[in-house]
Amino acid sequence: MISERLRVASQFLKGYHYLADCGTDHALLPIYAIEKGFVQKAIASDNKHHPLLSAKNNIAEHRLYGKIKTVLADGLSYLNLENDVDVVTILGMGGPTIVEILSQAYLYNIKRMVLQPNSQSKEVRIFLESNKWKIVDEVFLKENDKYYQIIVCEHGNMALSEKEREFGPIILNEKSELFKERIQLMIGQLTKAIQETNNLDTRKKLKLRLEYLEEAIK
Ligand SMILES: C[S@@+](CC[C@H](N)C(=O)[O-])C[C@H]1O[C@@H](n2cnc3c(N)ncnc32)[C@H](O)[C@@H]1O
Repeated sequence: MISERLRVASQFLKGYHYLADCGTDHALLPIYAIEKGFVQKAIASDNKHHPLLSAKNNIAEHRLYGKIKTVLADGLSYLNLENDVDVVTILGMGGPTIVEILSQAYLYNIKRMVLQPNSQSKEVRIFLESNKWKIVDEVFLKENDKYYQIIVCEHGNMALSEKEREFGPIILNEKSELFKERIQLMIGQLTKAIQETNNLDTRKKLKLRLEYLEEAIK
């Protein structure tokens, strides 16, 4: 069974042709995307042997070896040789790792990227903004008590505010109940921290952050 996070991310691949799933681990996403007919073929890549072995086994179990190629590679270093790849997914990695991978990749032929940073998503959005990628969709979801952000982008320009960089332009605009729940949790933690500190400087900084968070869900 594919997770809700991967299922939602895969919906954004519909109509594309050749997927590169970087950090594929068990290759669950490319297998699902091919079986559903969202893409026609895929590369499942990882920089470690063990995950790639799981990917190979799963692909064989699903009899998809003709359609999904496995590649042992750091990041997307193979994209200059695979110039018909038109869509990329990088899911379940920290924001700085995603940025590092993207900044070293040959992305000119890529029409769409679906990214799911586990942390520091602001860094990913800053990279996209300054490298002429435009966010065209976003999803904020919760699975197994964890909150996730899925960012979908295509070539184009965008100018984001500070809050949009941190929370996501579409997520911030939608202000879903789930997003409000997440921010309320952060507000609760901050309120507790403010009560517990005796340091005036720290208290001032935390209060500013609290006001910032409150504004984000207004
Ligand atoms: C937490 S798993 C996520 C698996 C899957 N993408 C998902 O979201 O369920 C992260 C995977 O990324 C791989 N990985 C980490 N850094 C990488 C890099 N620089 N290049 C390629 N793969 C990487 C890891 O080996 C691991 O299999």
